[in-house]
Amino acid sequence: MHLTPGFLVKIMIFDTHAHYDDEKYNEDREEVLLSLAGKNVGRVVNIGASFEGAIASAELAKKYDFVYAAVGIHPDDVGVLNEDVMARISALADEEKTVAIGEIGLDYHWLVESRETQKYWFERQMELAVEKDLPIIIHSRDACEDTMELMKKAHEKYGDKHKGIVHCFSYSAEIAKEYVKMGFYIGVGGVATFKNGKKLKEVIAAVPLEKIVLETDCPYLAPEPFRGQRNSSDLIKYVVPVVAGIKGVTEEEVERITWDNACKVYGLADQKGA
Ligand code: NI
Repeated sequence: MHLTPGFLVKIMIFDTHAHYDDEKYNEDREEVLLSLAGKNVGRVVNIGASFEGAIASAELAKKYDFVYAAVGIHPDDVGVLNEDVMARISALADEEKTVAIGEIGLDYHWLVESRETQKYWFERQMELAVEKDLPIIIHSRDACEDTMELMKKAHEKYGDKHKGIVHCFSYSAEIAKEYVKMGFYIGVGGVATFKNGKKLKEVIAAVPLEKIVLETDCPYLAPEPFRGQRNSSDLIKYVVPVVAGIKGVTEEEVERITWDNACKVYGLADQKGA
């Protein structure tokens, strides 16, 4: 069954990173998703983090025309990975509406899995993305150096086939520029509206708008004035003016350019609807 939003408007927001499979939407998932089109959200990529999340992402993409899927295993969850699970992720990657491998990477904040285990599966999943000709969605927390090292290694090995988004970017402007040089996009979300979001604002200033994509990471990271509450894709409208202000462009330009960026990185036709 395909559920299409009621109407489409001209300039729309592309949420490049959402987790609508999260249990926080168990009560009203369909209602939230179907309300997005009327709130100026045109496309959403639902990102798998766990294996179950990857399956759920593919299912959401099947059910809703405007939802696409990313499949992959988050560094906190790589303990579940083995050759069998990799084969199943690989099969999910072949589905028509799977547009990326992610989110994958390194998280040394909680260290749920050892650094070595995380690095091994990060590299394996990068390899899978190249094999499938899909971009990757990077999650990197408190692991700046090791992430950069593995990314540079992959870039040397795979060249332009190594592509994607560094999601919820939390490092310095200098590091952001390094990723942009490698052809990667920088994911910007609610943190840009936070009082302590100074570092991200410097990143937005330092990288071209043509290399920025908008994201929620919902249900997490709701922008001000909703910080701490459940997030959803329409709340990106609170991030847009921050980016517009820093870049000295209109909000419409931010929406249009980030929409185009998202379509480009995910390999989607640039169709804006009406
Ligand atoms: Ni996420």
